Amino acid sequence: MPGPRPKHTPDPSIEFSPRVSPPTTPRKVIIDVDPGVDDAIALTMALFDPRLEVVAVTAVGGNVPPEQATANVQALVAYLDPPRLPRLGAAPDDVALPARPYSVHGSDGLGGVDLPRVNLHAGHASEKVIWECLRAHPREITFVALGPLTNLARVLQRDPSIAEVIGDLVICGGTLHGCGNATPTADFNLYCDPAAARHVIREPVTKTLVPLETTGQVLLGFDVLDQLPAEESRAGAIVRGMLTHAFRAQRQILGSEGIHLHDAVGLVAATNPELFERTTVTADVEVTGELTSGMLVIDRRQIRRGRPNADVLTGCDAAAVQDCVLRGLAAAATT
Ligand code: BDR
Ligand code: CA
Repeated sequence: MPGPRPKHTPDPSIEFSPRVSPPTTPRKVIIDVDPGVDDAIALTMALFDPRLEVVAVTAVGGNVPPEQATANVQALVAYLDPPRLPRLGAAPDDVALPARPYSVHGSDGLGGVDLPRVNLHAGHASEKVIWECLRAHPREITFVALGPLTNLARVLQRDPSIAEVIGDLVICGGTLHGCGNATPTADFNLYCDPAAARHVIREPVTKTLVPLETTGQVLLGFDVLDQLPAEESRAGAIVRGMLTHAFRAQRQILGSEGIHLHDAVGLVAATNPELFERTTVTADVEVTGELTSGMLVIDRRQIRRGRPNADVLTGCDAAAVQDCVLRGLAAAATT
């Protein structure tokens, strides 16, 4: 691992999107994660994106158990040392996660990159951090959910009026046509905590779902390894470590010659919505089906019942989204 680096000096030559120039006031975001390699990649991008002010990073159990998710969030933020230190939230440990037959994230969730363990803000529950941030900045915060929806559902259960102060909500999860990655019908994030997902989806909050079919359009090939930041930089060292693991694991486990980084695409959906196609739907989440628990159910009837409650991203400009991911990672290595 590289040693301490000089303090951050923004590199004005880094462009974040070929199409959108950075706004003057960064957008406040809470990044809710269950790291997870793709969560860690998304977090790395977000922490150094000048268009974003990451006010909090909140952990939730999912890809890894809650304690490991909290440890990974703390270790990643401490190691990456972003220009602005976000508040950090610890994952609730009273959640029963479903057994997983395989994981592409490695036993530590981060592909074995072996970050130094730290304990930055132990004790602050994700739920409390989220509630406090949303109350402190009413209607200003975009909540980016890259893991199971446990944390946000709990905040909404405890204080239903909090829904009114959520600025925007982007959820990486669900499927358009019911081909899941956790079960034949459900994506992992909705499957882990279907009741939480249902609660959040039913809320009258503006929200965007980024389903697997859309994140799956962005398949990164081996050639991206040549385009990642240099190993000598902090971000470069862990991104290279994690992605090398991801290529190996996704080939061995899934038989895939490329990798999907679902959550990185989810983050780009928040920063560059113009790269995605969307449609407004009435959606719900199945919570009891023996074969369908966690399935996103979209009402496609001609005369649908219930009000539209979400936008679903149905496709994207995959090359442009990949470009955003690579630029985001490059920026993380230079600031
Ligand atoms: C989700 O599955 C997880 O493994 C990823 O981190 C992502 O959030 C997509 O279904
Ligand atoms: Ca995730």
